[in-house]
Amino acid sequence: MKYSFLLLTLAALLIFPSCDSEEKDFQTRLSSPDGQLQLDFVLSESGQPQYALQRNGQIVIDTSGLGLVFKSAAAANDSFQLESTSMSETRESWTPVWGPTASIDNHYNELVVMLAQNGDRGHRMQLRFRLFDDGLGFRYEFPEQDGLDSVVIMEEQTEFRLTGDHEAWWIPADYDSYEYLFNKSKLSEIDTVGMDYGIADRPDRMIATPHAANTPLTMRTQDGLYLSFHEANLTDYAGMTLAVQEGNTLKSELVPWRNGDKVRTASPFLSPWRTVQIAESPGGLVTSHLILNLNEPNAIADVSWIEPMKYTGVWWELHIGKTDWSLQKIEGSWSDKGGRGHGANTENVMEYIDFNARHGITGLLVEGWNTGWEYWGIDSIGYFSFTTPYPDFDIDTLAAYAKKNGVELIGHHETAGQVTHYESELEEAFAYYRDLGIKAVKTGYAGPILPEREYHHGQMLVEHHRRVMEAGAEYGIMVNAHEPVKQTGLRRTYPNWMAQEGVQGMEYNAWSEGNPPSHTCILPFTRMLAGPIDYTPGIFDLTFNEYRPDNRVYTTLAKQLALYVVIYTPMPMVADLPENYEGHPAFQFIKDVAVDWSETQVLNAEIGEYVTIARREKEGRDWFLGSITNEQARDFRFPLDFLEEGRDYRAIIYKDAAAADWESNPQAYEITSREVQRGDTLQVSLAPGGGQAVHFQAGEGAK
Ligand code: NOJ
Ligand code: CA
Repeated sequence: MKYSFLLLTLAALLIFPSCDSEEKDFQTRLSSPDGQLQLDFVLSESGQPQYALQRNGQIVIDTSGLGLVFKSAAAANDSFQLESTSMSETRESWTPVWGPTASIDNHYNELVVMLAQNGDRGHRMQLRFRLFDDGLGFRYEFPEQDGLDSVVIMEEQTEFRLTGDHEAWWIPADYDSYEYLFNKSKLSEIDTVGMDYGIADRPDRMIATPHAANTPLTMRTQDGLYLSFHEANLTDYAGMTLAVQEGNTLKSELVPWRNGDKVRTASPFLSPWRTVQIAESPGGLVTSHLILNLNEPNAIADVSWIEPMKYTGVWWELHIGKTDWSLQKIEGSWSDKGGRGHGANTENVMEYIDFNARHGITGLLVEGWNTGWEYWGIDSIGYFSFTTPYPDFDIDTLAAYAKKNGVELIGHHETAGQVTHYESELEEAFAYYRDLGIKAVKTGYAGPILPEREYHHGQMLVEHHRRVMEAGAEYGIMVNAHEPVKQTGLRRTYPNWMAQEGVQGMEYNAWSEGNPPSHTCILPFTRMLAGPIDYTPGIFDLTFNEYRPDNRVYTTLAKQLALYVVIYTPMPMVADLPENYEGHPAFQFIKDVAVDWSETQVLNAEIGEYVTIARREKEGRDWFLGSITNEQARDFRFPLDFLEEGRDYRAIIYKDAAAADWESNPQAYEITSREVQRGDTLQVSLAPGGGQAVHFQAGEGAK
């Protein structure tokens, strides 16, 4: 049920005790539904719009400026006068197509301020603030008006004046990539100068501002409050990074087009929501739905084809070098590229289909199936064909064999960042898959964007990804994008936008220094707040010495299982080679774990240290628990309060063996089981770099 009513409309002068002593022309206050947060909107004496945020009387964001600067129109950052304000309350709940909870409450108080500048070149600008119990969203709105019928935004001057030099978990404000390990430092120490990112010779990386971070940017105040800054509903606009300025102030910096324009638009237009999530514990950030609530409702009428699923893939074998993505073409004839063999060949893929069918795993990704990979790394434009399989990949036979076995093939479109080329083939490529009965595609934008010096997080790519999503909705294709634009909750509107990468994921363990044990203890509170990640867990052969003796995965085996619960995604990968799962007792957990949930609880967490999450499956009564730690061993006791009263459960526990250690003994695990009920206690011991996964199988309920 939804009700929305107008609390009051006024264009009067209201003076409240202020956050600083500057003269004001106008001030009004909005409270969150539970009364704990207060948002002050201020119009300064010179007509600059400003806002401040308090929590229980304590300042969280001190008086901060708002405004936009245009290319050939007057700036919208000063000389405004108040036209009107209105306040209203909205309370509704809605049902996501899939997600970590079955239902989402959307309850906020809203303040809309209409402002106008004097003179011929003056603009009309509306600011919309939504204050939830768990944070704030606000955006700029420009109604249709003369002088802005075609306009370029050169700068957005949104400020967040923080009250201290908070501790932050951050990655650089790279315009192209989120594939970094997180740093932890004081806000004032956010600085990439001297950091050994080795990006000087990487055309697919661009850090223009060293004292800046990509969002979500999460921090902890001295008082132990957790804040995370991000954006919601990034539409027809550029992605936002946050630059650190004097006085603990963050300022929005938009990712540019190649000529320095930030946003090319025309009135009427809206900015994305600028968001601040606030929680007393790290878990409060994880269970907040603020970003999704600030997006538009589902735009896809028939969602019956959208299906969360686990998937295997001709993928890890490519990354560890067991097989190759490509064939080679010499004097017009195709052959294997030197020894390793081509992974995406008909026989190999048939075996994967058999494996999936045997174990009830729905999806199967095949990379390296189409022509063009033979040019990878060679400066050649438009080499990928999205409708031409390699000659040893019999796509018709495989699509039919998969269908017959109840397996969904997942297509792959590696664009190598060549966006214009991909768009020219997009409709044809989606129609090709649709006609084969393939309804999920992994896209990829590895490499610098072509056209040159456009960026993965600029407006061009924001619009591109929207086109892909709309085409996906039309052709019945779910999308899992790698090297994507950041997620901002658009999966609410396009629930075919499943997981995305935009993270330093599992593949880094295959060929780089890898992801230390703390990495996955940071992700839930940073990158994961933006949306589901395709992290690709489930590696059982953690050292894969047969293929890459110098590389490894930096966890125990039990931690790999726990990641299926901790890292939320509707499309978790079952990433290891089938031969490493076959006959392995711990594989049962991966087969059993759900992919869609009715309830999620964070049982304990400290960012970068440990986290434990429990989730109840959507279609049933079973619960799953995942607990992970960084390098440190830990012992926890959890009261099983989340279980249903009066119901018996069998807890199947997949844990680190006593001698397990990510470094010296990663494979050592044990499986035990016992009967439990609500009110019992679960004792959890985690090895260094370890984890624990528990499946609570629901039995008889109360008589
Ligand atoms: C990078 C992606 O992250 C990875 O998953 C994929 O296998 C390669 N690009 C090739 O497309
Ligand atoms: Ca990647």
